[in-house]
Amino acid sequence: MKAVRKEEIATGAGDTFEEVMTRRFARRSFLKGALAGAPLLVLNPLQSVSTAEPLGSAAAAHSNGLTFTPISLSRTDDVIVPPGYSSKVLLRWGDPILPGAPQFYINSQSAEKQAQQFGYNCDFVGFFPLPRFRSNNSNSGILAVNHEYTNPELMFPGYSANNPTEDQVNIEIAAHGLSFAAIRNYPRRGWHFDIESPVNRRITGETEIDITGPAAGHPWMQVSYDPTGAHVHGMFNNCGGGKTPWGTILTCEENFNQYFANRSAVTDPAKLANLTRYGVTAGATERKWERFHSRFDLVQEPNESYRFGWVVEIDPYNPDFVPKKRTALGRTKHEAATVVIAPDRRVVVYAGDDERFEFVYKFVSKGTYDPRNREANIGLLDEGTLYVAKFNDDGTGEWLPLLLGEGRLTEEAWESQAYILINTRLAATAVGATRMDRPEDIQPNPVTGKIYGAFTNNTQRGTTGRPGVDEPNPRPANRHGHVIEWTEADNDPSATSFTWEIFILCGDPKVNLLTAEPDAPVDTETTYYAGFSSEDISPIASPDNVTFDGKGNLWIASDGLPNTLPGHDGIFAVPTEGSERGYLRQFLSAVIGSEVASLELTPNDHTLFASIQHPGEGSTLAAPSSTWPDRTFPRPSVVAVTKDGIGRKPIGS
Ligand code: FEO
Ligand code: CA
Ligand code: CA
Ligand code: CA
Repeated sequence: MKAVRKEEIATGAGDTFEEVMTRRFARRSFLKGALAGAPLLVLNPLQSVSTAEPLGSAAAAHSNGLTFTPISLSRTDDVIVPPGYSSKVLLRWGDPILPGAPQFYINSQSAEKQAQQFGYNCDFVGFFPLPRFRSNNSNSGILAVNHEYTNPELMFPGYSANNPTEDQVNIEIAAHGLSFAAIRNYPRRGWHFDIESPVNRRITGETEIDITGPAAGHPWMQVSYDPTGAHVHGMFNNCGGGKTPWGTILTCEENFNQYFANRSAVTDPAKLANLTRYGVTAGATERKWERFHSRFDLVQEPNESYRFGWVVEIDPYNPDFVPKKRTALGRTKHEAATVVIAPDRRVVVYAGDDERFEFVYKFVSKGTYDPRNREANIGLLDEGTLYVAKFNDDGTGEWLPLLLGEGRLTEEAWESQAYILINTRLAATAVGATRMDRPEDIQPNPVTGKIYGAFTNNTQRGTTGRPGVDEPNPRPANRHGHVIEWTEADNDPSATSFTWEIFILCGDPKVNLLTAEPDAPVDTETTYYAGFSSEDISPIASPDNVTFDGKGNLWIASDGLPNTLPGHDGIFAVPTEGSERGYLRQFLSAVIGSEVASLELTPNDHTLFASIQHPGEGSTLAAPSSTWPDRTFPRPSVVAVTKDGIGRKPIGS
């Protein structure tokens, strides 16, 4: 990417960049003590203090339970965890998943085999306890794992990007989707996959999926192989996800646009505006699937792309369940969808749309959750209101409804609720939502109710012709990313207003980020860790997926460390409350070329599952940069991390 120089940053008022930044930070109370040039407090970890609260006893300082010895950034081609912990590869690309599935050999792969084996590029990981009615079991469960995308240059010997074969394309389609895998934790042997379990299942790019909710059947959803607009083949680019209280998975289609070719052949202005906003490929796609499957070619199948970009609900406990694309949740490049129940028992789903300057969403169901009626709950996400977030500069915010007939979404201009949902991004722009720095995971803290959103980075913020900085996105050319914390009015997740503050401005607190990379895009030189100041904070950048442990600590996986941070992506833990609020420490480091695409704790917090996605990315199978995990060729894999010794203990202790 071309470096962005300071003089290219739009300040909006004709002032110099330095003047604007000085003024902005001077009025931001959250940056007191973390301003440029302010000396860092250098303390022993046990004596660490927050600027917000005085130091209590050492025991009180660790009431969050995080006493592990942090690791450092690493460039080792292995998964590194703190002393006293072990990681084990649980599922790797190609592992047989269905009973009787063939063994995996990279030189004799087929689509038929791949459809029975663990897919490529594992992303979201969700643990669903077994049996279903002992819902807190932490030693036996179904692991649901998304397979976001494929790296054909690392899958096929001699792959030619200009001339992929039909077999290769069909293997890639079969390597997308999701795996359900039954796993068990044995007292001595640890975690193992049970291939004989009847719940094991593969969802691929060809699986029959229903389209439900308001957009089902709309004319834009109709194609030659499905004139009803209510059934589709497969799901693609499933990135993050979430779990419902009734035990289903929400798996989220993200960058679906890359699979569809020939936008430039479309002439209908409304359709062209939609395809352009979602970034559907103008000509041939890089993957070239359209050469073998007409549904990926807009010339031959003009509407197929509108049937992607949705949240899909699947019941892991029922292998015959037909997956449902829940259109009421909107059509974006969904990172994840996380669920919480409001006091009146309506279901609330938070979601980010992962692209520069896109939005944060929230769905509130019309019906209410009934813990005694699982079947009824499985239909709750088909009816409700989709909101989009407006973050005001004064620290308040509003949820703006995307409803036909409300505000600017007039019936004359927007036709139907189905049309609004298919065009979710355009409707959100029309109502004046806040354009954010790539919203990734958005998740409520189960202990405090506060919501945390990861804004991974946005190097275009404030550059020529692009939106400038604002209070919720305070860094020009934001390379390192940030985390926002917000509180819904009355702590009710169904509320339509909230207050918010910056929780973390990522980066290395010990490094002046402006001078660290002379040719790099401009960022601020300051970091901010909720006001906590210590030289022992682990540097982080590009926060992506998050989860919480039982004490309400935030666990963050990173995706893409810039050169200011010399190491691989990893997992980091940070208390959100108490005297160590903001004291972020690194727990895991991943392998060469990979990201940690997801992280999941068992209900008792004793096991951490992490997906190590795209190891070796940037290289080819002929000369792979990573040979993890088997010292042969890179294989995307899920690892299980546990504490060593007899008598298991929570992760982080
Ligand atoms: Fe697939 Fe937003 O990462
Ligand atoms: Ca999450
Ligand atoms: Ca990401
Ligand atoms: Ca992600």
